[in-house]
Amino acid sequence: MKRKVLGVLLSVAMVATLVAGCGSSSSSTTSTDTAADTEETTTDDAAAADTADESADTAAAGGKIGISMPTQSLERWNRDGAYLDEQFQAAGYETVLTYSDNDSARQVNDIQNMLADGVDLLIVAAIDGEALNTAMNEAADAGVPVIAYDRLILNDAVSYYVSFDNYSVGTLQGQFIVDTLDLENAGDKVYNMEITAGDPADNNAPYFYQGAMDVLQPYIDAGTLNVVSGQTDFDTVATAQWSTDTALERAQNILSSYYADGTQLDVWLCSNDSTALGVSQAVTSDYAGSNTVLITGQDGDEANLKNIVDGIQTMTVYKNVSNESVVTLGLAQAILNGDTIDESLIPSFGIECSYDVESYETSEGNPCPSFLLVPNVITKDNLQDLVDTGLYTMGEDGYLSAVQ
Ligand code: GAL
Repeated sequence: MKRKVLGVLLSVAMVATLVAGCGSSSSSTTSTDTAADTEETTTDDAAAADTADESADTAAAGGKIGISMPTQSLERWNRDGAYLDEQFQAAGYETVLTYSDNDSARQVNDIQNMLADGVDLLIVAAIDGEALNTAMNEAADAGVPVIAYDRLILNDAVSYYVSFDNYSVGTLQGQFIVDTLDLENAGDKVYNMEITAGDPADNNAPYFYQGAMDVLQPYIDAGTLNVVSGQTDFDTVATAQWSTDTALERAQNILSSYYADGTQLDVWLCSNDSTALGVSQAVTSDYAGSNTVLITGQDGDEANLKNIVDGIQTMTVYKNVSNESVVTLGLAQAILNGDTIDESLIPSFGIECSYDVESYETSEGNPCPSFLLVPNVITKDNLQDLVDTGLYTMGEDGYLSAVQ
């Protein structure tokens, strides 16, 4: 896995004002996951689209953006979709937003419908980075640029990638474990650990896993960390669709098989919050030890932030997906304006990120220029940092709620 990051990390002092490149916002079409089937809802901004001239101006000035999100069943994607929709509409674009219920065939169909609808650019968070070739090839044939959003799509039709430094998400988790347990000074003490990784169909998951394991492997090799179940390779510890229930069931099996005899469990490395929620439920219900198990996560999901307040989960890696939508908007505007796309764009985003031209490839030898934002560690000691983003509020009980 290539981990040579060439790029320029620019901490941006200036606050950029994203000039609305187009007229007022107009309509958006949202397809939502429903138990039975897709429910098409169209909401028109009456004030914006009440004259053909105005909507023509909007279309001419901004164009139409297709936003394809994977699912609404994982909390963060509801925010990603909402933030992207808001950002692009505020900048004068018409938007088509879909959620594909973690069904790759449906995501292909949703994207094909967007292309048939005449979108000028696609923003896609892939359910499966290798399952969108039909739609991606159609986008390439139609000359529609594609931004792979958060998760890389392994097709050369993708023009650019916007995400967080996914490998560093894992290194933050691994280093948190090293620092919290002071493994550097563990001496002969041995800490027992288990591992739960993400969806093998998600191109991000191996980066999270490898980032953590590259930090932890020396301690496993030295015997300071001991994976009692012996389950350490990615394919064994991966969790299809990031499912909380799947993570719960596997954790219960491990606890009953390897820890029922009183063996102490010290750490459970989880790649994200939905899997950490399942592991935490299993530890709470099925682990008999009296010690607190160090559990990692990612995303700042509300239930997990509550568990962090209650001491059930120890940390999460927070990724400000509102900032991710701002960078995506800035990149999309540059693409549609025919601007040069490189690190010189970063100051205009007003968001700290790096420009990386080596870490990710859409196919062998075909690097995908990427803008990577910076993730942060959140524990019970710095929850105020989340409130300070304006994206969370803290109740009287100390629990955090997302603003949207
Ligand atoms: C990943 C994403 C993470 C994680 C997971 C669940 O691709 O980068 O934030 O939560 O999906 O949606």
